Amino acid sequence: MRRKLIVGNWKMYGDYASNEALMDALLSGLRDLRNADYAVCVPHPYLFQAQAALKGSNIGWGGQNMSQFTGGAFTGSVAPQMLADFGCQYVIIGHSERRGALHETNPMVAAKFAVAVRMGIKPILCLGETLEEHDAGQAHDVVERQLNAVMNEVGVENLGKGILAYEPVWAIGVGRGARPEQAQSIHAYLRKLVAKKSKDVAKEIRILHGGSVKPSNAAKLLAMPDIDGGLVGGASLDAADFVPICRIAHSF
Ligand code: 13P
Repeated sequence: MRRKLIVGNWKMYGDYASNEALMDALLSGLRDLRNADYAVCVPHPYLFQAQAALKGSNIGWGGQNMSQFTGGAFTGSVAPQMLADFGCQYVIIGHSERRGALHETNPMVAAKFAVAVRMGIKPILCLGETLEEHDAGQAHDVVERQLNAVMNEVGVENLGKGILAYEPVWAIGVGRGARPEQAQSIHAYLRKLVAKKSKDVAKEIRILHGGSVKPSNAAKLLAMPDIDGGLVGGASLDAADFVPICRIAHSF
């Protein structure tokens, strides 16, 4: 039985004071919700703050990106070990906003996934097609390429040490997500691709859904057999939205 996992992706939002208020509200709002897992992925400068606030609670924390290199002369980059130093359990890898605007390639994403696993940080591997690819009927092909780029590089056993997140790019930040059945079909396809390499890993690996997940659609999405949680952007910035989503996850 896969436990549901809800991860907030704060993206490049928040400041010290608003983070403090948000984490306080999450600590009290999620304290008694013991049947699912929760985490927030915060901008790097606030990892220390997240660690101080959330340590010992039922809320994990992580980064939103990291270098594929473990150290060296890479101005402005953050090494995996630095995330580990601040207690990160998770790191988002290959978010579409990085693949798109920042030109992250499948090989870079695979290298980051591999090093995160080596460091004992759970990578959350984002997969998803753009609107053009969606309209051209290429969604399955695109996510298959993105998944295989990592699975072939690190091996299916290592893939199983991470988490997958299907985030159709056309559903991100627009308020209207994929229909639950539409999302389920891609989630099931991803699990089938993993199962071709290992039935055990396919059974265990969690596949989160992202793209306009909010309190009003979370229950229907999370009820789908292959949707094991959410990667939540906008609705993770307000406890009044994030806590109800977590409560829904807890209720399964
Ligand atoms: P929204 O929830 O704002 O659509 O963002 C989704 C996302 O990109 C999470 O990683």
